[in-house]
Amino acid sequence: MDLQLHGKRILVTGASRGLGYAVAQVLAQEGARLAINARHAETIAEAAARLRAATGAEVHPIPGDVSQAPDATAVVEQAQDALGGLDGLVTNAGGPPPGRFEDFDDATWFRAFELAFLFHVRLIRAALPALRASDLGSVVAITSISAKQPIQNLVLSNTMRAAAVALIKTLALELGPEGLRFNAVLPGWTRTERVTELLAYRAQQKGTTVEDEMAAQARASALGRMGEPEELGRAVAFLLSPAAAYLTGVLLPVEGGSYKGLC
Ligand SMILES: NC(=O)c1ccc[n+]([C@@H]2O[C@H](COP(=O)([O-])OP(=O)(O)OC[C@H]3O[C@@H](n4cnc5c(N)ncnc54)[C@H](OP(=O)(O)O)[C@@H]3O)[C@@H](O)[C@H]2O)c1
Repeated sequence: MDLQLHGKRILVTGASRGLGYAVAQVLAQEGARLAINARHAETIAEAAARLRAATGAEVHPIPGDVSQAPDATAVVEQAQDALGGLDGLVTNAGGPPPGRFEDFDDATWFRAFELAFLFHVRLIRAALPALRASDLGSVVAITSISAKQPIQNLVLSNTMRAAAVALIKTLALELGPEGLRFNAVLPGWTRTERVTELLAYRAQQKGTTVEDEMAAQARASALGRMGEPEELGRAVAFLLSPAAAYLTGVLLPVEGGSYKGLC
């Protein structure tokens, strides 16, 4: 199937490593024209160079902290300038710190709110005029399976992801009449640097090893393994693409059957 992404102008945030990088890689392989973002100028420039070298795609690195309002707006503006507009946006960033309810004060909750929820709002708001000007405007938010099934020791993430998927569903309903599409992916445990960090924290709490925790996560999925970042990347590329033209408001779990609910 041709995803019809060739030449499409797409911004992917949080893309120097992990899930965001894997999304950018699949989009670059499909011939999209990309702007990619992360906080650190050097690592996002290196990621862009790697993608250009591997795929020959046009990839513009745009440093900025999308959890901060001025940066979120500036990143979208620079992406539009570099690409001459926007057809697609993938909203992604790092996750909030692990921990339980009584571990966090208001300041930490507010930082998590900006990092895991409000950044979607700010990026989408800034990108809307350009997406409206495109005849294919499409957004995919990277959230978490924790929006459906809370994960232990991740109270900040669990709470913000639920809000994020509610936002995406609402936008799909509000802006669908204009032809704009909004979808979200809900990754389960996928092998990235962040996951290694989280499982190291869990192992430390439980007195186990990272390997023990990875094996436990693998056993918890129907497929008996953790996900690979490119598997999430392919799901995002499809939802974003014109090939998914009749899909909007979809909250797609990509988790190998580790979620056990019916809907
Ligand atoms: N991997 C999983 O299994 C999994 C499962 C469910 C949900 N998630 C969620 O999916 C997202 C990505 O996960 P991941 O595993 O790919 O994380 P990761 O390996 O930590 O990668 C995060 C990426 O986002 C960038 N980033 C972090 N904070 C940013 C900010 N404020 N502004 C701009 N860029 C930022 C990082 O680069 P810089 O540090 O240079 O900014 C990096 O490129 C996270 O929110 C995570 O909680 C992941």
